[in-house]
Amino acid sequence: MTLETLTPLAADALAGLWSTPPVLPTKWLYDERGSRLFDEITRLPEYYPTRRETAILRDHADDVVDVTNAAMMVEFGSGTSTKTRLLLDAFTRTGEPIGPRAAGHFVYVPVDVSAEMLAESAGILAADYPRIDIRPVEGDFTDAGLVLPSCEGARLAVFLGGTIGNFDDDGRRAFFSGLATTLAPGDYFLLGADLIKDTGRLVAAYNDKAGVTADFNRNMIEVLRTGLDAVGLYADDFDHVARWNPARHRIEMWLRARRDIDAYFGDLQRRWRLRSGSEVRTEISTKFDLSVLRCELADAGLAPVTSWTDPMGDFSLTLARR
Ligand SMILES: C[S@@+](CC[C@H](N)C(=O)[O-])C[C@H]1O[C@@H](n2cnc3c(N)ncnc32)[C@H](O)[C@@H]1O
Repeated sequence: MTLETLTPLAADALAGLWSTPPVLPTKWLYDERGSRLFDEITRLPEYYPTRRETAILRDHADDVVDVTNAAMMVEFGSGTSTKTRLLLDAFTRTGEPIGPRAAGHFVYVPVDVSAEMLAESAGILAADYPRIDIRPVEGDFTDAGLVLPSCEGARLAVFLGGTIGNFDDDGRRAFFSGLATTLAPGDYFLLGADLIKDTGRLVAAYNDKAGVTADFNRNMIEVLRTGLDAVGLYADDFDHVARWNPARHRIEMWLRARRDIDAYFGDLQRRWRLRSGSEVRTEISTKFDLSVLRCELADAGLAPVTSWTDPMGDFSLTLARR
């Protein structure tokens, strides 16, 4: 086993599990089972972000079409693309489109690491939207080598669900500036971001009563066990923990060992020990002050055109122009 021959999961586990504190990239939560559990989370009473973002899209999808007149929409972390349908509907509504869209050509490029969910969603969308050219891309949106299709006319990059909160501050700035480099002047970026609010509601959204988020978090252990040929590693040996980090205004999800863990990773040829009560961080979800976020976008060369929030002021959508 050399560094070059490591799978991406092995490389991330090696870099993260032996660090202090141990951390794993959030994307590994989204294997097929994890993606289905996340879909269930979006319908839980405590999980307000999906409902709030849907409400904003319902009110403003037509505005997005009017401002951008995009011929292609690229969505990062598209998942089931459920909310995206509001944009697809708006882009394909009969009206009087101008430019490349007038020829009836609109391209949707969902980008996601979750291969099964991506293929399934793309298939359903293709049946439901026969006039849209759907070109799924399985890949990591943080990968600098990720090539997006080009098109005649403006492109709209979309990043929904508050997934931007999964980056730390440096990662987020790198993502914005990478995107600004990838997009051409005149392209647009639509960003959904969750806003700072009452801590109790935030924590409840990541620690639901039905325990679905706990299963989603613990599924990371299954991903490690099956993906790295581990023995002595069991999801039931971990508790789900979600807490607010006030200094960094973010929710953090951790897995806390219920007993001393002594596991062996066959694919890494390494033993991993974690003391009872110790924790592994699996997700951060930063919550934003909208004016600060708009400044970050502008600094990266993505000039905010407009921002919308839901009536409760819980969630935001910002449309920015490259
Ligand atoms: C929080 S969910 C949001 C899903 C959907 N956009 C929504 O708003 O409900 C994050 C999505 O991003 C995908 N994802 C997470 N990290 C990723 C990465 N590094 N590259 C590509 N997709 C990623 C996951 O598979 C999942 O579909």
